[in-house]
Parts: sequence; structure tokens; C-alpha cells
Amino acid sequence: MQLMEEKILTEGKVLPGGILKVGSFLNQQIDTAFLKEMGVEIARLFQDAGVTKVLTIESSGIAIAAAAGMELGVPMVFAKKHKSSNVDGSTYTSVVHSYTHNTDYTIVVSSDYLCKGDVVLLVDDFLANGKALIGLCDLVEQAGAKLAGAAVAIEKGFQGGGDTLRAQGVRVESLAIIESMNDVSIAFRPQN
Ligand code: G4P
Repeated sequence: MQLMEEKILTEGKVLPGGILKVGSFLNQQIDTAFLKEMGVEIARLFQDAGVTKVLTIESSGIAIAAAAGMELGVPMVFAKKHKSSNVDGSTYTSVVHSYTHNTDYTIVVSSDYLCKGDVVLLVDDFLANGKALIGLCDLVEQAGAKLAGAAVAIEKGFQGGGDTLRAQGVRVESLAIIESMNDVSIAFRPQN
């Protein structure tokens, strides 16, 4: 998505440790007109996939997942993050390792909102090592639902998570893929 690359180039800031700050339009302040455009683009990419539900993890994924759900005309569900696992029969849970924060957390979703027969599109703001999406895939599998694929706003291609998922047969669509970045330049992977 050309507009996403332009937003990153004009408003993004590369921080030490390979972190891209996009607080002005995605992670703290949200550019609502652009959010709608992201939703429209994700819906266009997955319009023929038969999606019945969009799934993300709190908190930064919620806005873009809601925008995608609105355009697809389906509900959006967000998994909650818990510090420790608290398993009971009415929830699906998975443990996710965050490379960025060097910590493990448990994601939880009620079995009321993810069902056998659902066709689920995963949506998130960032895709780095892919652990968050792998955790969400686990929840979809536990529910006996079908995975349509994953859509993310910004993929950090150099961290490899997206390509690992693609190699496993998951359809991953990213609105922009950063191939490399430093404090003076950001290079994108060409997409058709
Ligand atoms: P992974 O899921 O792809 O393995 O990535 P990782 O655990 O390393 O990412 C942890 C958190 O950091 C996630 O949000 C992710 O969205 C975010 N993140 C990763 N790389 C970047 C980056 O370059 N820039 C920004 N702005 N965020 C990044 P989170 O901490 O779980 O928090 P939130 O969703 O509650 O905001």
C-alpha cells in the first residue's frame, strides 16, 4: 500500500534497537481517515476469503482490526493479555513470547466468541518475529475454526516472522514490508 509507505517515511522514526515509532498515526494518536483506508485495503485483499470474524490481541491491534471488521461487515474479537495462564473450560489460551519486551504473556479468548465454523482473519499493527500471530493461530486451531490468513499494517521483514508464517502456508498480507531501516533511511520490499 503506497500510502502506508509514505506515512512511514514522513511520520515514522527509527529508534535504537530496531524499533519503528509510529505513534502519530497508529500506536498512540490514530489518523482516523487513514485507519479507514487501511480497513478498506484489508477488506479488498480478503474480500473473497469468506471471513466471518476478525481476531487480534489487545491493545494496539484493536483499532485496525475494528476498521477491517467494519469494512468486511463481520465482528472483531480481541484476545486479552494476562500475565499468567488461568485456564478454564470456557476459554482458549496460548502463551506468547515477546522478543521486544523479553517476556512471556498468555492470550485468552472466550470460547463464546471463537467457534467451529468461523473463518478467521488475524489482524495486527506490527509483525516482527511473528509470535503474536502464531499464538492467535493456536487459538483458532483450538476453536476448530478455519484460518483465512493474516493482515498487518507494518511487517518488519528483516525479523523474519512473516516469511516463516508464509512458509507454513499462512496467507500473510502486509500493507508495508520494511526490508531494512536505520536512522537515515527505510527500505521497503517491493509488492505487487
Ligand atoms: P512478534 O509478535 O512479531 O513476535 O513481535 P514482538 O513480540 O517482538 O512484539 C512485541 C510488541 O511490540 C507488540 O506489541 C508489537 O506490536 C510491538 N512491536 C514490535 N516491533 C515494533 C516496532 O518496530 N515498532 C512498534 N511501534 N511496535 C513494535 P505489544 O507490546 O504487545 O503491545 P501493544 O499491542 O499492547 O501495543
